[in-house]
Amino acid sequence: MIRKIGVITGGGDCPGLNAVLRAVVKTAIGKYGCEVIGFKDGYHGLVLNEWIELDMPKASGILDRGGTILGSSNRDNPFSFRVEEHGKVSYVDKSDQVIANIKAHGIEAMVLIGGDGTLTSARDFSRKGLKVVGVPKTIDNDLSATDITFGFMTAVDTATEALDKLHTTAESHHRIMVLEVMGRYAGWIALESGIAGGADMIMIPEIPYDINKIADKAIERQQAGKNFSIVVVAEGAKPKGGEMVVSQIVKDSPDPVRLGGIGQKIAQDLTNLTGIDSRVTVLGHLQRGGRPTPYDRILSTRYGVAAVELINQAKFGMMVSLQGNEITAVPIEAAVGKLKTVPLDSELIRIAKNIGVEFGE
Ligand code: F6P
Repeated sequence: MIRKIGVITGGGDCPGLNAVLRAVVKTAIGKYGCEVIGFKDGYHGLVLNEWIELDMPKASGILDRGGTILGSSNRDNPFSFRVEEHGKVSYVDKSDQVIANIKAHGIEAMVLIGGDGTLTSARDFSRKGLKVVGVPKTIDNDLSATDITFGFMTAVDTATEALDKLHTTAESHHRIMVLEVMGRYAGWIALESGIAGGADMIMIPEIPYDINKIADKAIERQQAGKNFSIVVVAEGAKPKGGEMVVSQIVKDSPDPVRLGGIGQKIAQDLTNLTGIDSRVTVLGHLQRGGRPTPYDRILSTRYGVAAVELINQAKFGMMVSLQGNEITAVPIEAAVGKLKTVPLDSELIRIAKNIGVEFGE
């Protein structure tokens, strides 16, 4: 019987993190009489031993709250941690420090909530003998060992609402409206919101685009009397033979590349090629903020409860996962390192094409 567990929320935040924390605390304390310690700002707090006790009152009233009451960080890698001494920056392996901190608290198992970066470190801690379980999070939905990560459906909801709003103004002004959404290597948000929001063109990283095909579609629509077009583009989309648009490099992040700017480029290209006025909207971090949808609240709760059950069953080194409609567990080893991109033969791409959506292939 485990008496004390620790938890972190790591990586880019997303709606549903607090719902997972709530479920972990309620199950651990309410069902198993365990204590729960939360470390602040992902691995940052684990390295520096910054923590709070997560008791029942702290887990109360947070189900519908976006963000994370623990804070998060997508730059801190405990195996290569940024240290600044006398103005000199170096990267140091702090994993033994993390293990020492955990032991000093008397923590017997850790729940590590995060995306590929956080879970890769979770795997490495597991290899060092730490008892860990993982919970898959990312709005991008690009983790391969689960059908859906929590946060994704809320991001799709936000992007769909934006597309609905862009439709009305596009129609009034007879414009091409380009919506840039998140999705670095996987186009799930663009694809699903594009279908739900009735986009005419969807551009995803998995299908490098020919801008002429996108422009032709806008002209074809104009000739058919449709004086506007809606384009949704994933931030990681790239032209055939071309590159993604990088906005900045965050040096100490496990994945240092930050994207952004492709929407602007596409809008400009489309105006030049079609003569139709175009505008761009970059949805950015709005997709990561705000209240989780009911679907994400339920999924987060299922994941949080399942994580504590895994600990109780001594199934360490595992990540909770949704497969079909079942919550199950997979080895973290198998869950990291390969991203789940949109399969080119996926049903969603097929149905989108059948209803006339242009991918720019
Ligand atoms: O991985 C989630 C994600 O939201 C990506 O889609 C996006 O490119 C990135 O995080 C942005 O990270 P940051 O918070 O550093 O801007």
